Amino acid sequence: MARLPLAACAVAAAFYLCLHLASSSSSAPRLAPAPSDGGRRAGRTAYHFQPAKNWQNDPNGPMYYNGMYHLFYQYNPHGALWGVGNLSWGHSVSGDLVNWAALDTALDPTSPFDANGCWSASATILPGGTPAILYTGIDANGEQVQNVAFPRDPADPLLRRWDKPGYNPVIPLPADVPGDKFRDPSTAWLGRDGLWRVAVSAEVRGVASTLVYRSADFLRWERAPAAAPLHASRAAGMVECPDLFPVKEEGDDGDGQGLDASASGAGVRHVLKLSVMDTLQDHYMVGRYDDAADAFVPAEPERGDDVRGWRRLDYGHVYASKTFFDARGSRRVLWAWANESDSQADDVAKGWSGTFPRKLWLDEDGKQLRQWPVEEIETLRRKRVVLHRGTALATGGMNEIVGVAGSQADVEVAFKVSSLAGAEALDPNWLLDPQKLCGEKGASVPGGVGPFGLIVMASSDLREHTAVFFRAIYRYHGRYKLLMCTDLTRSSTRAGVYKPPYGGFVDVDVEEHETINLRTLIDHSVVESFGADGRMCITARVYPEHAETSNSHMFVFNNGTGTVEVSKLEAWELAAATVNSVGGNDSLVMSESNGQS
Ligand SMILES: *[C@@H]1O[C@H](CO)[C@@H](O)[C@H](O)[C@H]1NC(C)=O
Ligand SMILES: *[C@@H]1O[C@H](CO)[C@@H](O)[C@H](O)[C@H]1NC(C)=O
Ligand SMILES: *[C@@H]1O[C@H](CO)[C@@H](O)[C@H](O)[C@H]1NC(C)=O
Ligand SMILES: *[C@@H]1O[C@H](CO)[C@@H](O)[C@H](O)[C@H]1NC(C)=O
Repeated sequence: MARLPLAACAVAAAFYLCLHLASSSSSAPRLAPAPSDGGRRAGRTAYHFQPAKNWQNDPNGPMYYNGMYHLFYQYNPHGALWGVGNLSWGHSVSGDLVNWAALDTALDPTSPFDANGCWSASATILPGGTPAILYTGIDANGEQVQNVAFPRDPADPLLRRWDKPGYNPVIPLPADVPGDKFRDPSTAWLGRDGLWRVAVSAEVRGVASTLVYRSADFLRWERAPAAAPLHASRAAGMVECPDLFPVKEEGDDGDGQGLDASASGAGVRHVLKLSVMDTLQDHYMVGRYDDAADAFVPAEPERGDDVRGWRRLDYGHVYASKTFFDARGSRRVLWAWANESDSQADDVAKGWSGTFPRKLWLDEDGKQLRQWPVEEIETLRRKRVVLHRGTALATGGMNEIVGVAGSQADVEVAFKVSSLAGAEALDPNWLLDPQKLCGEKGASVPGGVGPFGLIVMASSDLREHTAVFFRAIYRYHGRYKLLMCTDLTRSSTRAGVYKPPYGGFVDVDVEEHETINLRTLIDHSVVESFGADGRMCITARVYPEHAETSNSHMFVFNNGTGTVEVSKLEAWELAAATVNSVGGNDSLVMSESNGQS
């Protein structure tokens, strides 16, 4: 392994990294606060969203309104664990999607129609610009019903107070749905007939269904008379958190390409996203939505009705995702829940964490979504290291990325694969369980082309490390498949931590893309990776022991027999954002919120 201190910059070293201080960073970057309470604090993220304390799960009702971003979230104000019966809506606001200020809870379980909890749902901006929330209440009988809430003062830029009208619920429990299986209304959209639609998850006579309700006034809702729900399948069990949203057929990189929830017509496709309770995974299908019949026609019918066969939004540990249309950036932005995966005892000292918001758009293939962190994250970039010219990584090659703190970083690296000839041949069984394959063929199992990638959150003796890597596999008829993995098996020496391998096959033509890129956001306990220009995302939670007391290291590596060129590498240390009054700059959000137009 070559460890290149910065002093080596001047010599013609094999691996050539030089330090550049970003012009703006005369002050030292703010890293996450040091442990102060004796608990395990090293895992607290510095720029991913989480409350200052207590339990949090699904993101709810994200929206952009009147110059501010709002994020609500499932929140237990009474403790660090999920508290059945006690769920409120936490509420935070931001001017930039990076720094967040916590406000009082927006919804609390205080009414007969939500006495046992205010559960997940979405926000909709009504014509005229007033936002409305449709959410699931667990009523006094313990049954799931759908309620509305409106801002008390729409002129308040922070929308601090929300009213729950006494005529709730607006959608009572239907007779053919059990009381514990009717929830998570989506953002509403307008059909061409001028009626609102909203999608709600329900189990109808044992069949997991995504129902559509229609309304002329947002208050009186009727189940759509369509013959079939938007989606129905018995196979996967209950699904939750439905999201139906339009994307442009001719997507480019997602900027300026987002569509409002009600967009339809030529050049528009729709995405149906469902969260599968059994597996805790989010899947989606691209297709066409017909608002006359409220029907969804999948672009890949061969994947079947079983949602578990659909494409995955993220191959790691995220669930209950929700998108919104960001009118400011004219883009579609996704939030998701990246559940803590250490012990409940540790959770008592921590909170939840979301993925950093991502923009998302449709790939040219018309079938897969691509995702990328929103560009606002770049405002946190401080120290930068770059590779000035390509460097070859022979087999066993491992080079440290020095000069930026490895626990709070944004790394982009491009690997040039000049020949696929040595790729190992496919065993058809590998197609069945790529996640298992990522475990069996980890970073230390040599292949022909790969494994190559990044090692992050590594202790100095490498006993703890997280590997994010690719491996090309020869299929047949001159076709190749690309496996992408995040292997947590060695991420921590602590007991009681969930340490699976994650991974899947990237839907990319490897022969056409001789350069494969990888971007990884590292935020203490979050390692969030985007492979092949955002075609595959893997979000992982890691809890290395060493991070409590010492620095974490990062490396690029190649353990394939074929040489791989690192043709580009840029890494930034990221400053801590202010997230609900913890971290960086406390004054930031509120001062920005004042001058908004
Ligand atoms: C729920 O809230 C009550 C107070 O209203 C509290 O006594 C109880 O411990 C909470 N339960 C959980 C699981 O948080
Ligand atoms: C959250 O993580 C815990 C611990 O790994 C696990 O038991 C639980 O099933 C996870 N829940 C979700 C929704 O991911
Ligand atoms: C590469 O493979 C060797 C031999 O199996 C192993 O010792 C080394 O740890 C591997 N490198 C990585 C980054 O896993
Ligand atoms: C906090 O942010 C404000 C506004 O951007 C800036 O003027 C101030 O210097 C920052 N303070 C710190 C301690 O970084």
